[in-house]
Amino acid sequence: MDNFLESGPKNPLKIQDNTFRDGHQSLLATRMRTEDMLPIAEKMDEVGFWAMEVWGGATFDSMHRFLGEDPFERIKILKKYIRKTPFSMLLRGQNLVGYRNYADDVARLFVDKTCEAGMDVFRVFDALNDFRNFQTVVERIKANGKHFQGTICYSLTERRMGGEVFNLNYYIGKAKELQDMGADTLCLKDMAGIMSPFDIAKLITALKKEITIPIQLHTHYTSGMASMVYLEAVKAGVDIVDTCLAPFALRTSQPAVEPIVATLYETVRDTGFDLALLLELGEHIESVAPKYRDYLAKHRMSVIDTGVLQHQVPGGMISNLVSQLKEAKALDRLQEVYREVAVTRKELGMPPLVTPTSQIVGVQAVLNVLFGRYKMVTNEVKDLVYGLYGKTPTPVDPQVQKSILKGYKRGETPVTGRAADYLEPELDKARQNAGTLAKSEFDLLIVALYPSTGVRFLKWKYGLEPRPKQVTGKTLEDIRKEDEAMAAAIEQVCKAM
Ligand code: CO
Repeated sequence: MDNFLESGPKNPLKIQDNTFRDGHQSLLATRMRTEDMLPIAEKMDEVGFWAMEVWGGATFDSMHRFLGEDPFERIKILKKYIRKTPFSMLLRGQNLVGYRNYADDVARLFVDKTCEAGMDVFRVFDALNDFRNFQTVVERIKANGKHFQGTICYSLTERRMGGEVFNLNYYIGKAKELQDMGADTLCLKDMAGIMSPFDIAKLITALKKEITIPIQLHTHYTSGMASMVYLEAVKAGVDIVDTCLAPFALRTSQPAVEPIVATLYETVRDTGFDLALLLELGEHIESVAPKYRDYLAKHRMSVIDTGVLQHQVPGGMISNLVSQLKEAKALDRLQEVYREVAVTRKELGMPPLVTPTSQIVGVQAVLNVLFGRYKMVTNEVKDLVYGLYGKTPTPVDPQVQKSILKGYKRGETPVTGRAADYLEPELDKARQNAGTLAKSEFDLLIVALYPSTGVRFLKWKYGLEPRPKQVTGKTLEDIRKEDEAMAAAIEQVCKAM
C-alpha cells in the first residue's frame, strides 16, 4: 500500500526551534548563556524555522538570578543576529514569567516592553486553562500588532484521553474559545510528555474540522512517546511542531529536529530543511555543552522516565516530591504520595499539573500524607481554593473547601471573578522598591517581577556590587582543566593498581 505521505498536495511541516529556551530549560536548569548562542545565531536564521523560541518560561528568572544577565538584553542582542526568523516566547498568562498572578499594570507594561525588545510570537498559557487570565496580556499583544498563540495545557485523568474532564470535547471547546478570542494559532502544550500517539491523531483530526487557525504541537520526550506522537500528528495534519537541535533534545526536552527532517524527506510534508546545516549547528552546541554538563541529570541509565506512563506525574514534580520526602526522612512513603496526588488533585478541582499548580498540588499531597489530610495547608492552596488563580476545571470538593477556608484572611466564601481583578496595582510599589537603581522601564520590570533578586541584579548590572563567582560561570577553559585533573587522577590510580 502506498503511504499517503508520498503523494498528494504539498504541505511542508513547519518547525519551531526551542534550543535556546525549552531545550536548556528542560535539560540544563535554564543555564545557557547568551554568549554561547551568538556564534550560531546567524546560521540558525538560515534554517527556515517557523519561529525560534528564545525567551520566557524560566529564562527570565534564571538569567537575572543565576547568570547575572539582563533578560531583556538577550532579546535585543539576538535580534541583531537573527533578523528573518520570528522570535517566540512562553508567557504564563497573568503569571507572566513568574510564579504568581501580577497586577494588570505590571502585565501591560511587561508585554509592551517585551514587544519593544523584539518579541514576535507570544505563546500564552494558564495553568488552569482559565482564559480570563489571558485577557490583559492578549489585549496588549494585539495592540502591539504581535502574534497571539493561544495555548491549551494538555492534561489527563486516565491512561488515555477521555473520562469526565479532559476528553475530546474539553479540548475542542477550549480551542474554539481561543479562536474566538483572536488567537492567530493554537498550541497544544504537553508539558509532561503524557500525550499518546493515537490520542493526538484523534485530537488533531477533530480540531481540524472545528477550527481554522493553524495548530502547533508542543511536547516533551519524557515518557518516550514524543517521536511517535509527532509522526501521528504529522499524518493527521498538524501544522507546526516544536523541536530542538539534537544535543539539547530528547530526555525531558523536545524531540530532535534532525530525525524528523530525514523522516519526512521527499514526502508531501518535507520540511525543506538542509540536514547538513542542522548537523553543523548541532556540532556547535556539542562544543559548548561541557560548560553545562553538571546540570544534566545523570542518576539513571534510562533517558526516558517510564514511570510517567503509569502515574502521569510530570518529571519535575516527581523530583520535588522526592526531595520533600527526603527532607522529612519519609522517602519510603513515595507510593502513598503518588496515590495522594491523584486524590488531592481531584479534591482541588483537577488542575492540569504545570507550573505553578504542579508544585501547589504536590506539596499539599506530601503534607496530607505526613500530617493527616489538610491538617496543614499551604497559603498557595488556600489562595487556589479561594479562587485567586482562576476557575479550576472541576469545582473544588465542598467539604475540603470549607475546612481549608475556615478562618482564611480574605474570607470564607470563594471569589469567582477574573483573578487579577482582586489585585491592587503594583508598579508604584516596584518604583519605590527600585528607587534610583532602575534606569529604564526594563529595569523597573525586573524589580516588579522579582523584588529581592531583581534589586540584587540591578546592583550587579550597574557595578554597585560585584557579581559572585558562581554567577560569572564556568568557562570551557575551566572545564578543560577539570578534565585534565580528572584524567591525571585516574592515571595515578591505575598506576597504583
Ligand atoms: Co515545554
